Amino acid sequence: MAAMRSTDLPNDTRHQNTASLDLELNVREGEIPEDCEGHAFWLVPTPQQGAVPWFNGYAQLYRLDFQNGGIHLKSEQFRTPSVICDLKINEQPWWSNLTNWHKLLFGRLYKFRNLGGLARLSPRLGVQNQCNTALQAFKDPENNSWRMFATVDSGRPFEFDLTTLKPVTPVGDRDQWEPLEINGIPELGDIKIPWIFPMHMSGAHTAYDENTGEVFIINCLFEIPLSLGAIKPDTYIHIWDGQGSFKTTQIIDEGTNKPVEIKQSTHQIAITKNYVVIIDTAFRIEFLRMLFPDVQAQAQSAYNQIWLVPRADLNGGQAIAKHIQIPRECVHFYTDYEDGDGENLTLHTVLASGHDVSEWLQQWDKRWPTWLEPVTSDFFGSPPGVYDEQGFGKYEINANTGELKSEKHCLFDKFWGVALPTYQGIQGASLSQLQNIWVNYGGYISEITPRRLVELYANHPFRKVPVDDLPQWKESGILRWSPVDMEVKDSWAIERGSVVNTPIYVPKQGQTDELEGYIVAMVTTPSGSEFWIWQAGNLAHGPITKLHHEEVKFAFALHTAWVPSIAPRDASYKVDLRQDMDINNPHYFLPDWIKEIFENDIYPEFDD
Ligand SMILES: [Fe+2]
Repeated sequence: MAAMRSTDLPNDTRHQNTASLDLELNVREGEIPEDCEGHAFWLVPTPQQGAVPWFNGYAQLYRLDFQNGGIHLKSEQFRTPSVICDLKINEQPWWSNLTNWHKLLFGRLYKFRNLGGLARLSPRLGVQNQCNTALQAFKDPENNSWRMFATVDSGRPFEFDLTTLKPVTPVGDRDQWEPLEINGIPELGDIKIPWIFPMHMSGAHTAYDENTGEVFIINCLFEIPLSLGAIKPDTYIHIWDGQGSFKTTQIIDEGTNKPVEIKQSTHQIAITKNYVVIIDTAFRIEFLRMLFPDVQAQAQSAYNQIWLVPRADLNGGQAIAKHIQIPRECVHFYTDYEDGDGENLTLHTVLASGHDVSEWLQQWDKRWPTWLEPVTSDFFGSPPGVYDEQGFGKYEINANTGELKSEKHCLFDKFWGVALPTYQGIQGASLSQLQNIWVNYGGYISEITPRRLVELYANHPFRKVPVDDLPQWKESGILRWSPVDMEVKDSWAIERGSVVNTPIYVPKQGQTDELEGYIVAMVTTPSGSEFWIWQAGNLAHGPITKLHHEEVKFAFALHTAWVPSIAPRDASYKVDLRQDMDINNPHYFLPDWIKEIFENDIYPEFDD
């Protein structure tokens, strides 16, 4: 098959303005609707240089305020303690090594480095918690104001002030989180890694029950082949009321009578009225590749391992979960809140077959279908393009018995690269019955589809399009999916060379039907970064407003959130970092120059 030079991609999607911004967006085309409600947020990792995965970068947090017919933008770099520590270590002048023998000899052990893969790690300090992936809004239990935290798969969430966008507190004291540590070596006991920034494996998509006010957070110890059994897989669900300590329950697999064992990741969990749904998601975290990125990638499983946990049993102690396997892997999924007392639990999955987003483009990757043509260097580190059709699945499960009652799926011949969904209301909460999902789709772009991954997934059990029949190009755009009718109801394709990034649903003030609202998305065009607005019920009409500003330059967005109102944070909940990250704890044996960074630059940032 002859390779065609398909399109002039926006080639600066790795660049982001990381300055603090506070400005009014300008209209480039159309008119701003005067009845958009509330405030929308985006989390966008800032890609590093080279072929480092774009998801491994400091978070840039954006907020749009829809008010008085104008749209205000605020943006801040999201600096958690480990991010500040990284920045401050790198700011130290080289000559400071000459007057500090410890720093001269051991300074390199404290620097954060990209050892490959998705982690940024300091051998002596631990894993950087970038909180760059998703957002969870929830209501303050005392005054009903909205609060929000940022998340990542490999660290504690961090709550921020909705008005200033400044991080305020980790969610949960460190002693409430189970770190990834080596435990249970015979004769040696547990081996506690002396990291002030330990790795806490979690899931970026937490869940929120708007009826009870509870936030659900997963915390796992993964099976790690390298540990040769020294790390015992374990899984916990933390329930948080936004105020006090977690209520933590260990999750036991009914079939094995052992803790639930995650092999890939738990990127997302979801709740129904009576159950928490845990899926070992198709985002395969490969610990070996974090240390040695040249190691060949392993394929993600084509099947979802699912555990159904009765919420009534999440009382601390242990809860028994039913395990069920369903075909066609997913990274993102949603549930209907109403579950018929557990007899009709409905799962809506975004089918991830033909797309491995735990991978990234490397310098030696060759563009499919060529043998020798490199992928374009502007996209080293980018998530790879797709190499088969995506779509949505729907599964009806009797959660009480673990029976899969029905399975439906729909793959799109036209809409490839189905990406990041949004729906009405608070993201992470479950609607009674999900009616509409809006999602961007990236299309098929051979410049960013590597031969390495096409071959790895050539014999995927659910492959639709044989690899030799992959297209030359497929359009990119945005669509509305009806999980009720299992069909695409509306769609719009963007002009070739531009990309629609993560959308968010924004309601119209006083609306009576969700189709009256709006969809707002980050859009990357050859001329720059823009925010576009569509009418939610009429995508096919095209964007009604295009907004820009010369100072706004964003990279590849991850997840979003929306809340109806914001106010300065006045919640009393706050983890005391001076205790939580106690530099004088002998376990960490920190040198004075690192202690000074905590005293001068980290603790004061989070003091009242
Ligand atoms: Fe996600």
